[in-house]
Amino acid sequence: MKPTNSPKTYRVKSFGCQMNVYDGERMAEMLGEQGIMPAPEGEDADLVVLNTCHIREKAAEKVYSDIGRLTKGKTQTKAPMIAVAGCVAQAEGEEIMRRSPAVSMVVGPQAYHRLPEMLEKAVKGERATDTDMPAIAKFAALPERRRTNPASFLTVQEGCDKFCTYCVVPYTRGAEISRPYADLVTEAKKLVDAGAKEITLLGQNVSAWSGEDGKGHQVGLAGLIRDLAKVDGLARIRYTTSHPADMDDDLIAAHGEIDKLMPFLHLPVQAGSDRVLKAMNRSHTAESYLKLLDRFRAARPDLALSGDFIVGFPGETDAEFEETLALVDEVKYAQAFSFKYSPRPGTPAATMDGQVSKDVMDERLRRLQDALNRDQLAFNEASVGRICEVLVERKGKHLGQWLGKSPWLQSVWFEGDAQIGDLVEIELVEAGPNSLAGTLRETALSAA
Ligand code: SAH
Ligand code: SF4
Ligand code: F3S
Repeated sequence: MKPTNSPKTYRVKSFGCQMNVYDGERMAEMLGEQGIMPAPEGEDADLVVLNTCHIREKAAEKVYSDIGRLTKGKTQTKAPMIAVAGCVAQAEGEEIMRRSPAVSMVVGPQAYHRLPEMLEKAVKGERATDTDMPAIAKFAALPERRRTNPASFLTVQEGCDKFCTYCVVPYTRGAEISRPYADLVTEAKKLVDAGAKEITLLGQNVSAWSGEDGKGHQVGLAGLIRDLAKVDGLARIRYTTSHPADMDDDLIAAHGEIDKLMPFLHLPVQAGSDRVLKAMNRSHTAESYLKLLDRFRAARPDLALSGDFIVGFPGETDAEFEETLALVDEVKYAQAFSFKYSPRPGTPAATMDGQVSKDVMDERLRRLQDALNRDQLAFNEASVGRICEVLVERKGKHLGQWLGKSPWLQSVWFEGDAQIGDLVEIELVEAGPNSLAGTLRETALSAA
């Protein structure tokens, strides 16, 4: 399929983690610079970017079915130009090009700054694949930030050297790299100028970020957060995702010292059995994880915790799974993500003995999620009566209703006089499993 006309509208569809969403935003900005407009809601776009995720099963199948849907029954001139981006593009780019003639461009997560050149070729009917990994080059080549949501993302670190035995990220995102300090401060200021009130610092292993600050001192993530907290107009800072092995004293202290750093920590543990954690190559035990949480809670007593879990890792016994439940009972997470183990091609765990049956995984996931949901509801119920700031992110379903986030990353809805981007004072009055209702006390006039 050879498109002959330059696309006038685009749609970027992001399927993955927050960094994948960030990449999607940056690709959209780049297409905007090329004079291509976002396709209006409900209308077909001339160019569709499928920004894929490879973390769990059926990722590639999903890409092929999406491509099928986009081109089905459409003539060559009516079908959109298709670019496949993201982590499936990185892992299976050549295969995609071979199997899907409808795809014009395949671009990996470290190469998408070259999308405009690829597009130029694609318009001439030449297909292009770019899965190089010059990570730092990408950021320098991207346009300035001019648009953002009140709660925005900023990638500070990419890649992962941890090689958990189940995970594709070290292969799709490459080795750990930290973006330079000065670039991050500049990007954060641009985001604030564009209306961001909250910035979530992103990295596959964000607490491994390091760099040289404005005074030439070597600093870690805590140092970066301290300086970003000085940016006028920025009211809230978060970071995700951390690995327990890279949480240093300075970061723990920062949670007690920096008001703008929100009282929330996403710290995946994956499992509660030390044997399983070792087989996962996690480099921590259940106990060292719990001790680490104690130190964070000592620094910031109202800290809300979140985690990731995998059930049915190869060889996981019933008794080992019970250890995961025991850990959950102890931590009492405010929210969490839990997954059935999914063998990923090329990872060590995929060929380990003792692959767990689907039925057993289903049952374990159900029991784990029951426990996590119970704790999430309990956390929300315990929040009733709290008065807190809520950052308004969007309109609610009903007229006059607004939705935002509490400092503890709870979704809060309320009614009253507010606007997207306001920080408002809210009393939390009613708790559900996934959100809370609040009443508006006053509208804050300024952000920070
Ligand atoms: N860099 C982050 C996120 C990794 S992916 C981190 O290290 O925490 C997000 C989550 O997906 C992981 O924490 C893990 O719980 C889950 N995950 C990763 N690979 C998986 C696999 N093969 N099967 C099931 N879940 C997986
Ligand atoms: Fe994957 Fe482990 Fe790296 Fe997280 S720390 S991205 S789970 S390899
Ligand atoms: Fe998915 Fe790649 Fe993120 S595999 S989870 S989009 S790093």
